Amino acid sequence: MFDLIIKGGSLPDGRVTDIGITGGKITAIESLGTAEAARTIEATGDLVSPPFVDPHFHMDATLSYGLPRKNASGTLLEGIGLWGELKQVMTQEDVVARALKYCDWAASMGLLAIRSHVDTCDDRLLGVEALLDVREQVKDYIDLQLVAFPQDGFYRSPTARNNTIRALDMGVDVVGGIPHFERTMEDGAASVKELCEIAAARGLQVDMHCDETDDPLSRHIETLAYETQRLGLQGRVAGSHLTSMHSMDNYYVSKLLPLISEAEINVIPNPLINIVLQGRHDTYPKRRGLTRVKEMLAMGINVSWGQDCVLDPWYSLGTADMLDVAFMGLHVAQMTSPADMRTCFDMVTVNSAKTMGLQDYGLRVGAKASLQILDASDPIEALRLRATRLYVIANGRVISQTPRADATLNLEGRPQTSRRRHTVSEN
Ligand code: FE2
Repeated sequence: MFDLIIKGGSLPDGRVTDIGITGGKITAIESLGTAEAARTIEATGDLVSPPFVDPHFHMDATLSYGLPRKNASGTLLEGIGLWGELKQVMTQEDVVARALKYCDWAASMGLLAIRSHVDTCDDRLLGVEALLDVREQVKDYIDLQLVAFPQDGFYRSPTARNNTIRALDMGVDVVGGIPHFERTMEDGAASVKELCEIAAARGLQVDMHCDETDDPLSRHIETLAYETQRLGLQGRVAGSHLTSMHSMDNYYVSKLLPLISEAEINVIPNPLINIVLQGRHDTYPKRRGLTRVKEMLAMGINVSWGQDCVLDPWYSLGTADMLDVAFMGLHVAQMTSPADMRTCFDMVTVNSAKTMGLQDYGLRVGAKASLQILDASDPIEALRLRATRLYVIANGRVISQTPRADATLNLEGRPQTSRRRHTVSEN
């Protein structure tokens, strides 16, 4: 007797099978025949996938668009300035309310694990207090991992170093940084070294905003890879953005990529934000600013797409939909072959779960029964349609349902309804 059976779903690898769930865990992935369950969902060929995972977000800033004003230039630097203005006036209650609203959106979109940076440059640390509270409030359905992020510079902002350590003492999970925003290249490299040492001493993961600039001489990823090796942190360190790599000299990149691979750095490009914020000082040709995704994947480096922003000082759109993120990444990185498109789906599911170090994730017996059923037959169709999340299941419980979208047509001689499903053979 199962708590829940999902009948006849198409898994991302193409298998069509049943999934049995008991006690919040996946207990069977096989044909379950006439097995009984308290509840049965007929998936009948719909895609059943593990939940989406966003490895890069800012939940303290989300849904603040327009507070206290909008970003007129649209640049990263005006966004950082604007966020500084908002920090002066925001309250802890305000941050909690915005973050919980965002988590509702995420739950409805099948996004059940999020790594959020939280700014540690405010001496009151009210964003940290707020997101620790939210992490606890949503823990039954969203894995929320927090990164101590010195937005205004670990050394450049006078109290950031102290506050970042305080935030870790308060229970923030991951060590962050922003080396390209320190005053000098030397300070940037020193910040990478010290922050990695802090993580190693505490047994924590590292995730730095690294080289989020069009400056090809911004090479902090090299230091991050070196420190990762030196301190034995392989597999536990992430480099977010790495946009300078778009503009780097090809010969230098041919030396750099093996170093990133050896250090097992997880790489997190954020395509919605990178395509909007990078290349802003260019005339034409105007650089895309996305890091070298295909080249890193070809070397076996774990690359996952992050969302970064929804309705905040840096980005005026967004819906908590990781399919939007993957869709943009697919276009900007020109990942249009069937194999590449499937990889783009992995980059918002299994790859990002690996980045976050999620142990009980995935469609396998014994894993946590968190999954989603989409109105699509396979990952490529899910991307094309940004498919409706028909059911979202967290720890064995259905937490969200959305009806299929069918248009009602009034066209003579044509069917009365139209859906956008259209499966394409990959051969
Ligand atoms: Fe970010």
